[in-house]
Amino acid sequence: MTWLEQGELVAIPTETVYGLAANGFNSLAIAKIYYVKNRPQFNPLILHVAGLDQFYPLVRHIPDACQVLMECFSPGPITYLLPKSDLVPDLVTAGSSRVAVRIPQHPITLDLLSRLDFPLAAPSANPSGYVSPVTANHVMDGLQGKIPYILDGGNCQVGLESTIVGFEGETVLIYRLGSITVEQISQVCNLEVKMALQHSAPSTPGQLKSHYATKTRLLIGDIADLLENNPGLKIGVISFQTNYFSRATENTILSPAGNLEEAAANLFSAMRTLDGFGLDLLVTEMFPDYGIGRAINDRLARAAYRE
Ligand code: TXA
Ligand code: MG
Repeated sequence: MTWLEQGELVAIPTETVYGLAANGFNSLAIAKIYYVKNRPQFNPLILHVAGLDQFYPLVRHIPDACQVLMECFSPGPITYLLPKSDLVPDLVTAGSSRVAVRIPQHPITLDLLSRLDFPLAAPSANPSGYVSPVTANHVMDGLQGKIPYILDGGNCQVGLESTIVGFEGETVLIYRLGSITVEQISQVCNLEVKMALQHSAPSTPGQLKSHYATKTRLLIGDIADLLENNPGLKIGVISFQTNYFSRATENTILSPAGNLEEAAANLFSAMRTLDGFGLDLLVTEMFPDYGIGRAINDRLARAAYRE
């Protein structure tokens, strides 16, 4: 708490991924986030708060559809893009008139937030462009020596970054897929739900085609074919349910039982572990394209993308 009050950075656990947090009202502290992550200044940050009392002053207006979503899904892995109030520094929003706000669901972080009289600006606690951290050790791997404190809250249960939604007239726009699914949002909102995921000049840089990338090249396709077509290479396989141990150098099966939530929770750890083995190639497959499977496919596509 005192580190944060003094304008220092602290890594915090959330149910999605670990965040690199700073006082969201302190521009100097926020500038440190960009510096430590080597994050482009055009990529804005999410503000985290404990509840509605802290949420309301940060925004000018909350559409009805947003209220409904908040009642259903917050605290939880969903972020709302709303018109910002004057309290929010421009450095948080990278100059945009909209701010991203979320109420995370991790008990330690909710408790921390409720004791602070400022929101926490927090991107994922990884060097810009790399896979997001889902354990305190992952944070250490990327940021050791650069931040004074990591609050260890165990493994992140969801394992993928939050769903990001915005509102335009009678439409809910999905800017980033996450574990709160398009299906769930459509079900509770009486509005049209549209994707706003890919832009050449992205309005949210999580939309950049290349992101969350492993250092080892990653290919997506039919795993058996990819193994067969790349003989002689040391290959790490990330599969949903199927066992490729006999043909691959390494194989992580994300959910032998075929559970997409479990697969999502294991994905980033698998990517990091296999990336650490110095293999020639990583291969994976498309996941079922519904529910959280769509968010998994989105992250895999970005990790596999090369300019
Ligand atoms: O689950 C999460 O959302 C995690 C945890 C720590 O809360 N945070 C996270 O932050 O993933 P970050 O910075 O890695 O991704 C935030 C995304 C970025 O793609 C950013 O461009 C977008 O949110 N974003 C933030 N503020 C925005 C704004 N004002 N307008 C448009 N996009 C915004
Ligand atoms: Mg990130």
